[in-house]
Amino acid sequence: MDIDWDALRAAATNAAANAYAPYSRLNVGAAALTDTGALVTGVNVENASFGLTFCAEVSLIGKAMTDGLGRPVALVATDSEGNVLTPCGRCRQILIEMGGPDLQINEVHTAAELIPGAFLPDDLPE
Ligand code: THU
Repeated sequence: MDIDWDALRAAATNAAANAYAPYSRLNVGAAALTDTGALVTGVNVENASFGLTFCAEVSLIGKAMTDGLGRPVALVATDSEGNVLTPCGRCRQILIEMGGPDLQINEVHTAAELIPGAFLPDDLPE
């Protein structure tokens, strides 16, 4: 699949404008191309109970699954100025399950590179 990384970065940057991040002031947007050809975005949503915050990548996955838009094959996360951000550890775990080890992240990585030895469905008892 041909990936338009500039378009994904632009979509992530545009989405970041809708982030709710009054505490960290880091507005994050994520954008992904899915295996159905859909473009999906997400933003971080913070909470006064800080630990309840969820990341842009998590809201992206929630939207993709809710709307039946398929699995991510290429994903970018940026701040509202377009600076590329690397996914946190929790997001890496979520992304490798939903996008698989070959999910391309920020143009230069795969999910498997970002979370080697991830806990995966095969690690659960049958
Ligand atoms: N954040 C994300 O949205 N994605 C990540 O992968 C890293 C961190 C958000 C969470 C929090 O709202 C803010 O960035 C600062 O940690």
